[in-house]
Amino acid sequence: MPLLEARQIVKVYPNGVRANQDVSFAIEQGEIHAIVGENGAGKSTLMKILYGLETPTAGQIVLRGQPVHIDTPHRAIDLGIGMVHQNFMLVDSFTVAENIALGREPGNGLVVNRAQAIADTRRLSETYGLHVEPTARVETVPVGMRQRVEILKALYRGAEILILDEPTAVLTPRETNDLFAAIRNLIKERKTVIFITHKLREVIEISDRVSVMRDSRMIGTVTTRDTTIPGLARMMVGREVFMVVDKPPVQRGKSVLAVRNLTCANEAGRAVVNHVSFNVHEAEILGIAGVEGNGQTELVETLAGLRAPTAGQVLVDEQPIHGLGPRKVREARVTHIPEDRLTNGVARESSIADNLIVDRYYRAPFASGGLLNPAAILQNGRNMVQEFGIVTRDAEQPVGSLSGGNMQKVIVAREFSSSPRLLIAAQPTRGVDIGAIEFIHQQLVNRRTAGLAILLVSADLQEVMKLSDRIMVMYNGEVVAMFRNTPDVTEEKLGLYMLGGTRQTAAEMEAQS
Ligand SMILES: Nc1ncnc2c1ncn2[C@@H]1O[C@H](COP(=O)(O)OP(=O)(O)OP(=O)(O)O)[C@@H](O)[C@H]1O
Ligand SMILES: [Mg+2]
Repeated sequence: MPLLEARQIVKVYPNGVRANQDVSFAIEQGEIHAIVGENGAGKSTLMKILYGLETPTAGQIVLRGQPVHIDTPHRAIDLGIGMVHQNFMLVDSFTVAENIALGREPGNGLVVNRAQAIADTRRLSETYGLHVEPTARVETVPVGMRQRVEILKALYRGAEILILDEPTAVLTPRETNDLFAAIRNLIKERKTVIFITHKLREVIEISDRVSVMRDSRMIGTVTTRDTTIPGLARMMVGREVFMVVDKPPVQRGKSVLAVRNLTCANEAGRAVVNHVSFNVHEAEILGIAGVEGNGQTELVETLAGLRAPTAGQVLVDEQPIHGLGPRKVREARVTHIPEDRLTNGVARESSIADNLIVDRYYRAPFASGGLLNPAAILQNGRNMVQEFGIVTRDAEQPVGSLSGGNMQKVIVAREFSSSPRLLIAAQPTRGVDIGAIEFIHQQLVNRRTAGLAILLVSADLQEVMKLSDRIMVMYNGEVVAMFRNTPDVTEEKLGLYMLGGTRQTAAEMEAQS
């Protein structure tokens, strides 16, 4: 008998979207079960139904052979089902231990026995090898630790089945390895894990079985060792996916972005970007390789006008833009696909069509004589939805109703279409499915070939290597190497510089610039 079964689940959202259509699948006790599928296929919806966050329109959930009604997360927790979301849901101003214990003691409301909470957190954290700092405030801990807090919180509440919705989307490769080690510990303790990801390599590495969703339906469940990455991709997309980009050689043009001795201090006064200098030219993709947390985020924020540098200069077409603020930077035709799409990217309540023009609503054809032109705005929205394959009923839907990956596509579409001089793409394919990755990669390269200057920052080294004309390595806030992207620039070679094992001399860097 399976541990947990979904039988013919149907979910129709109030706006009429059918997110799940006759979905049936089964989870066995003690397995790691991966769920894959394109953006908008219905994965998160199905998980929210299992966790009591959404009510199914029809169908049945069966736990250990018994039909159950999971109408609230509270009920799910009572039944031993825990979930960690695509977007975290912790209380920032509370400590790690408080968050883990919060709401556990019935009748006690928000009151937490602190000493007990800290002791319990330590014990759990050791049992599963999920390292956290019990007394740190959640707002001060890195994203990987926040996620471990969410997992511990679910375990503390007695989760036997743990649902993880895209847990690795926000993790560095190293944190992903740590998470996988913790998942294996959970399995040793007879827990069961359901795991959503867009990275098929991870599916092959960690899962026992994998279920594939496409267009709101369950296509099937296969045993992981009987399948391959191309096989899974085909099931997901319904066609062959090649994942190759067509990247013709091109003569780069003049320098567009010039960064000179740029230095940024963090709140504690430490230089997190330290005397960084480089150029990005017309018709060139400069990729930044580096372990996350080595200054890339702060560098991008400074270039985009979201952070003021402590020293140095940023020039676009020889005009200084540092310290101008995001709006002026945009007016200098610098666009930015932000790494954190939920806080910097979209207005959730507004429609897709409106989000696509927030930076240009006052210009033709979207406005004339001070009046907005709703028809033009809507038409533009429809065109972009079509071109970028955004899964939605129509362009008038609020962005908040989109799946995670489709929100990302809205941002990418908006930034691509603003006719920039410089495009800063930070983690542009984070959370998007393989078909969309293929599309975004080809778009980036096409625009570079057409003359755009692109700065690419990605935690995915293979992405950097595939797309870049030059690769710059950052370590500890500094530029430690620069390479023309030739076949002898391998992952191993870059890795050495990324981990601080070695660095180039100024002359060596100059020679590759
Ligand atoms: N609250 C909501 N209201 C209306 N429609 C919704 C809502 N949440 C999701 N949808 C729609 O349901 C469909 C499935 O979305 P879901 O979030 O389940 O996809 P997903 O497979 O998790 O995608 P992703 O890989 O991008 O996270 C999408 O078309 C989405 O727009
Ligand atoms: Mg999702």
